[in-house]
Amino acid sequence: MLTMEKAKDYTELSEMAAERIITKLSQKPDAVLGLATGSTPEDMYDALIKAYELKRISFAEATTFNLDEYVDLDPSDENSYAYYMYHHLFRHIDLSPDNAHLPNGKSADPDAACQAYEQLIEKAGGIDLQVIGIGLNGHIGFNEPYTPFEQRTHVVELDETTRKANARFFPDLDAVPTHAVTMGIQNIMESKELLLLVAGEQKAAVLERLVYGDKTEAFPASIIKDHPNVTIIADQGALSGL
Ligand code: GLP
Repeated sequence: MLTMEKAKDYTELSEMAAERIITKLSQKPDAVLGLATGSTPEDMYDALIKAYELKRISFAEATTFNLDEYVDLDPSDENSYAYYMYHHLFRHIDLSPDNAHLPNGKSADPDAACQAYEQLIEKAGGIDLQVIGIGLNGHIGFNEPYTPFEQRTHVVELDETTRKANARFFPDLDAVPTHAVTMGIQNIMESKELLLLVAGEQKAAVLERLVYGDKTEAFPASIIKDHPNVTIIADQGALSGL
């Protein structure tokens, strides 16, 4: 079932999203959380850090799995998602580094690394709550348009549009990696609960397509309407197209 929660602005969206994670951790301190990067979840992470500092939550028993990582960027590279997570969340909380997982974009054997990542998720008992964002072309994780819905963790070649959209984090477009490792659409659909965050007017058209459009591999996010437990939290800017 798809539930839409409306936030008046990005700040409220971030607080609402953080509350979902706080509730999950309160009910299940050893929850397995699926985490996302990009601009959208940044303030949600700030809200989680505040909740941790106020002793409302602890991550001591939690496990996290990130959706994706660039190929060939070292975790110490400021543009890697490993660095992003460390900077925006992990260094501020009590999550054990052993329980914080990201796909390995530096493996000499990427296919084996993808399989190993899947096994880790399975061993942890699957993902209880997966946070996702959405790209301007409808991608989720780094699953670009026309990725088969049954695809599992894999290496992808990034769309030119995605590289351009993410170039704002890099010195220039040439510095944006051409490939990434991402959980597949199937992995995302296997999470017990999905939380999609959509913020800002620039996402109005994608949210409109998601809500009113058909399910099609041309628009990867369209699959989430088949998930039994999905919540979209969107702010007024993103909702302006509905
Ligand atoms: C990136 C990430 C996605 C993210 C998307 C939207 O490409 N791989 O996981 O959801 O872009 O990012 P943003 O929140 O910055 O718009």
